[in-house]
Amino acid sequence: MPVVRTVSKVVQQVLLAPACSCGPLSLSVRSISFSPRQVTSDASFHSVSFSETDHPRVLITGGLGQLGVGLAKLLRKRFGKNNVILSDIRKPPDHVFRSGPFIYSDILDYKNLREIVVNNRITWLVHYSALLSAVGEANVTLARNVNITGLHNILDISAEHGLRLFVPSTIGAFGPTSPRNPTPDLCIQRPRTIYGVSKVHAELMGEYYHHRNGLDFRCLRYPGIISADSQPGGGTTDYAVQIFHDAVKTGKFVCNLKPDTRLPMMFIDDCLRATLEVMEAPAEALSMRTYNINAMSFTPEELAREVQKQLPDLQVTYEIDPVRQAIADSWPMSFEDSNARKDWGWKHEYDLPELIQTMLNFIGSDSRIAHAN
Ligand SMILES: NC(=O)c1ccc[n+]([C@@H]2O[C@H](COP(=O)([O-])OP(=O)(O)OC[C@H]3O[C@@H](n4cnc5c(N)ncnc54)[C@H](O)[C@@H]3O)[C@@H](O)[C@H]2O)c1
Repeated sequence: MPVVRTVSKVVQQVLLAPACSCGPLSLSVRSISFSPRQVTSDASFHSVSFSETDHPRVLITGGLGQLGVGLAKLLRKRFGKNNVILSDIRKPPDHVFRSGPFIYSDILDYKNLREIVVNNRITWLVHYSALLSAVGEANVTLARNVNITGLHNILDISAEHGLRLFVPSTIGAFGPTSPRNPTPDLCIQRPRTIYGVSKVHAELMGEYYHHRNGLDFRCLRYPGIISADSQPGGGTTDYAVQIFHDAVKTGKFVCNLKPDTRLPMMFIDDCLRATLEVMEAPAEALSMRTYNINAMSFTPEELAREVQKQLPDLQVTYEIDPVRQAIADSWPMSFEDSNARKDWGWKHEYDLPELIQTMLNFIGSDSRIAHAN
């Protein structure tokens, strides 16, 4: 549904609504004032207690991937368990299902999305559904549908209901003609994967909706994310997660990228905290709507050497995957993120030594528990 038409319809509804009609009025006010904080003021019509409405009501799409469950945990700690709804098209594992609200949501189904947003009084939407770089190249049609058509649904729903919208972008939104070391926020973006093209599209569409009709769109370009307790979903940086598991479990690791392939990386805790921080930042602090965030950059060889300091028996061999290598060769080697640091105080906590220690501690204790069972 075109947003301009929707917004003008909403404006009409507000103008025509009787002054005492609390229901339609509260919906309309929410739809045209694009700040979730406004929900608090009109929520008093419905006698909802202050503590419940003080917090945003968050929907996370694609929440069962590498990042969503961790983000839900962080946001629930901050905003309360029932204020954060995870959604996906897959069946949640038991521990996720028990940890808080979960709902089925296919981002390609516009009506279903709208129903969820309305019925749950959603005010923030974190849009994680996507097909990542390597998986996207293997299924371009599906990637185009999920990453582009799905995004259009998300933008329209967010504009229609005045949501604050977070969409992650990626190092993959840059290409071989971008400056690679370091890559600034604003430069040439000519990616050569469907994933990258769809993410540039998301950045530009979100910013367009922001400038055109005030959508509160916020976007961070994540580096490759490294996590201990969730599996990566088919990206080019997946090797940097797998090496830890293989090092602990088999002592052997076959790397699918060349030893000297340098890419920007970040530990998941930093990534999720950045997401919360940019979502909470006052709008006046944001001089732009799409920011690079950076933590560390390393090559497979450097990572392996650091892991071998802790696990000297680890053997690393290289079997290069030409698709992933071509993708990695076109991506930034390091990210320039001074705007994020200046505007909303971004600061990473994990460098390579802390990352290695944390990953090995977690996976080591996890596998010891598994052996004991
Ligand atoms: N993990 C990273 O290293 C990384 C780096 C940069 C950016 N990102 C971005 O962060 C977001 C989350 O990444 P992730 O690693 O958790 O991804 P992931 O691939 O692990 O998970 C994506 C989820 O989207 C779901 N999905 C697919 N089609 C769907 C549909 N039609 N409707 C609803 N859900 C659908 C999948 O079931 C999956 O659970 C993505 O947008 C990704 O592009 C991730």
